[in-house]
Amino acid sequence: MKMIFLRPLLVVTLSLLVSSQSFAAPDLANGKNIDQQKCYACHAKKTGFGNGDMIYTRNDSKVKSMADLKRMVSLCNSELRLDLFPEDEVDVAAFLNQQFYKFKP
Ligand code: HEC
Repeated sequence: MKMIFLRPLLVVTLSLLVSSQSFAAPDLANGKNIDQQKCYACHAKKTGFGNGDMIYTRNDSKVKSMADLKRMVSLCNSELRLDLFPEDEVDVAAFLNQQFYKFKP
C-alpha cells in the first residue's frame, strides 16, 4: 500500500536531482562569448602576436592546474573590474580548460 504513494515521489525527486545537475553544468558557449568579448583583445595586445588565444598556450604559462586556472580567471576579473558573475567565471574557466588547458576535473 505504502509503495503506491512512495513511487511517484521517488520519480519526482530523482528527476529534480537530474535536472538541477544539468542546470549546474558550465555553459561553454557563454564562456566562449565572454572570452571573446572581454578577454581576447587585451591578451592579444599583451602577447604582442595579435592572437588572444596564445596567452593560454604560451610555454611559460602560469597555469598548471584547474585551481590555478580558476584563480587566474578570478584575478583578471577582479583586478580589471570586468564585472563577471561567479557563474560566468565558472563558464569561462570551463571553456578555457576544454579548449586549451585540458586538465582533468
Ligand atoms: C586589461 C587586460 C586583460 C584583460 C581584459 C584580461 N586579462 Fe587575462 N591576463 C592579462 C595579463 C597581462 C596576463 C598575464 C599575466 C602574467 O603573465 O602574470 C593575463 C593572463 C591570464 C591567464 C593566464 C594565462 C596563462 O596560461 O599563463 C588567464 C587564464 C587569464 N588571463 C584569463 C582571463 C580571462 C578569463 C579574462 C576575461 C574574463 C581576462 N583574462 C581578461 C590581462 C588581461
